[in-house]
Amino acid sequence: YQNEALQVISQCGELSDIEEARIRFLGKKKGRLKEIQTQLSTAKPEERPELGKRFNAAKNAVEASLNSRKDELAKPVKQAAGLDVTLPGIASPLGKRHPISKTISEFKEIAGRLGFDVADGPEVEDDYHNFVALNIPDDHPARDPLDNFYLSVAQEGAGGPWLLRSQTSTVQIRVMEQVPPPVRIVSTGRVYRPDTIDATHSCMFHQMEGLYIDKHVTMSNLKTTLKMIATQYLGDDIAIRFRPSFFPFTEPSVEVDIQWGESWMEVGGAGMVDPNVLKAVGYDPEEVSGFAFGLGIERLCMKRYGVKDIRLLYENDLRFLSQF
Ligand code: PHE
Repeated sequence: YQNEALQVISQCGELSDIEEARIRFLGKKKGRLKEIQTQLSTAKPEERPELGKRFNAAKNAVEASLNSRKDELAKPVKQAAGLDVTLPGIASPLGKRHPISKTISEFKEIAGRLGFDVADGPEVEDDYHNFVALNIPDDHPARDPLDNFYLSVAQEGAGGPWLLRSQTSTVQIRVMEQVPPPVRIVSTGRVYRPDTIDATHSCMFHQMEGLYIDKHVTMSNLKTTLKMIATQYLGDDIAIRFRPSFFPFTEPSVEVDIQWGESWMEVGGAGMVDPNVLKAVGYDPEEVSGFAFGLGIERLCMKRYGVKDIRLLYENDLRFLSQF
């Protein structure tokens, strides 16, 4: 029995052959094992223990042989072309969103929950939207060629000279030129300044501008809004501070700091929109008032993730980026 079974099993070429052999040799109803078992019951009592032992040994051997042949057949076949499908594959690593993009999305979402729409404006701006309409006079130091990236293209037509915008406040003007009050928008994007690059400065960075114009908008609305944006992005424990400051396009103006280790870090500017700005876009300062703010996205992102050097955000080193 055993020899015959092992012979048949070794010739099985398919899993279905194995199943057939199993039924034939081990089947509980009509299999060969059943026959032998019936014969056993007719054996002399003194022979039974020995026969029982041999019966069990044969049964185990056939079972083991069936299982190992089955495993062999279940293994994938090596293909002639030299393709070994059992080798580990080459993983294709998934890309991730850049931390700045993630931060921008999150800010837009937070601002959206506070009722702000999203607006957009160009990175190459004219003198009018970057300075004039924002109440920045001709002789103001912010216009200094050493503090801006002016373009050397022909300055024909209205609005020249052209420059890479130094602030997203330009979008305040572009939106108010288009729509009558009330206005409640945020705008995110790149701004450019020829700053000396260090751990917290770059000649290009991102800002989120906010503008809210309506009847009876107050400074306390501004403070509440900024506090809510900061806590929703950085958590309830974040300390935020407002320092009196000056911007030509807001009055009064504040600078906004967040806690940075043992000290503070400036993350933006804000204030009540200056009546001259409202007049420049045809709004009536007697009718409406509003606030504006501009936040530095990199610094808030650095605070959130514990990034100590702003330059890491621009180097595109995968060892850094894959951590986000
Ligand atoms: N535009 C200012 C800056 O870039 C920030 C600011 C925005 C201040 C809006 C007041 C109101 O520094």
